[in-house]
Amino acid sequence: MENILKISKKITPFNKELEISGDKSISIRCVLLASQAVGISKIYNLLESEDVMSALHAIKKLGIKYRKFRNHYSIYGFGINGYNPKKNIKIDAGNSGTLARLILGLLVNSKRKIKIIGDKSLSKRDFSRVTEPLKNFGVNIKIKKKNLPITILGTEFLRPINYTEKLGSAQCKSCIMLASIKTPGITKIKAKKSRNHSELLFKSLKIPIKTISKKSNDYIEIKGPSNFKSFNYKIPGDISSSAFFIVLTLLSEKSKLYIKNVNINDSRTGVIKILNKMNAKISYKNKKIYKGEYIGDILVKSRNKLIGVNCPKSLNSAAIDEFLIIFLVAAKAKGISTFRDLNELNKKESPRLDIALKFLKMIGIKYLRNRDNIKIYGNPNLKLNGNYIIKNFRKDHRVFMMSCVAALSFGGKWIIHDKDSVRTSFPSFFEKLKKLGAKV
Ligand code: S3P
Repeated sequence: MENILKISKKITPFNKELEISGDKSISIRCVLLASQAVGISKIYNLLESEDVMSALHAIKKLGIKYRKFRNHYSIYGFGINGYNPKKNIKIDAGNSGTLARLILGLLVNSKRKIKIIGDKSLSKRDFSRVTEPLKNFGVNIKIKKKNLPITILGTEFLRPINYTEKLGSAQCKSCIMLASIKTPGITKIKAKKSRNHSELLFKSLKIPIKTISKKSNDYIEIKGPSNFKSFNYKIPGDISSSAFFIVLTLLSEKSKLYIKNVNINDSRTGVIKILNKMNAKISYKNKKIYKGEYIGDILVKSRNKLIGVNCPKSLNSAAIDEFLIIFLVAAKAKGISTFRDLNELNKKESPRLDIALKFLKMIGIKYLRNRDNIKIYGNPNLKLNGNYIIKNFRKDHRVFMMSCVAALSFGGKWIIHDKDSVRTSFPSFFEKLKKLGAKV
């Protein structure tokens, strides 16, 4: 079957309710933590995407069993010393930076050498940001330049570290947090604010953790070694996946969408805050707290009075996976939108900042770039009727889905390559699009 998607019709007005599949960040964290818990953990609504399947395959290679049941996965953990890998194993993290970085933290006490590999895109990403601090625990790591493959051999003489995380990367912070569970003594972390799912999970698992939240940094202390009991967890819908449908609704005509049961944790909803500054009027319903995470329904309607935003840097980390589609809204908004310090955006599955700017140029939107700061000159009358081909984006799932949203809301004839990229994070993307009436 051809791996391309053709779109040549805008979406027609819709008024629908959707449920979006499980949150990817929480799914991967639950699989990894369950693999180190004592006893059987049950995970409900686990996202069944390639990144999460890579996490399940990884724990299996480490000697941990799991089973799929009708409505949950059971994972059979043996505690923090419970991995039992065969000799010379390779763990393939596929496309997942989260898996590759977090699992390194869990391998700091591995008695066997473990090699971590990944796909082409992952193999281009910087791993020194986690291997450097991990070495300070006393771990033996082999890495060429900054990239995969990495070979890690743990130690029984782990020592706690003081670590400063400056990028606002939850993957780096979480890697060190996971290593600290195995390490005798107190590991201290000062981290620029980023998503806090690991902290909330640690608290709900009663792993000894103290957190103090200040304006731009979080201070975390974890006391190890600390075994923890197995757990049950029902994973909420993914806000990052939901965001594609939120923006599709905003940019379409006379449409309304209600998305149920989404993770609306403050550290993830930068996209909603930025869009609301653009006059999007997105609202939450039925807010509740589950194991520390805020969960709620999201209501969004079409808007034709969107305005440009001066995006505060403090929202960068909480919206890091959503800038591609935020730029689409900026393209259609009245006035200029300004974004600053988006360097991290070029460190993702593809160089997303470079790709997004090429995309804006292609659809005739003016922008100015000054290093990692950009200004987008919106055009509220934006309507497309040309031919557009999207390819060579390192199969980045979010670039693919952003292109679909652009095609369905701005018009034109589109050929978008690598449609199987949605399997990374959102395998039911097409099913949901069709539910809203999109002709794809
Ligand atoms: C993630 C953190 C973010 C994000 C990624 C998932 C996580 O990456 O882009 O999609 O689950 O911790 P960084 O930590 O590198 O910013």
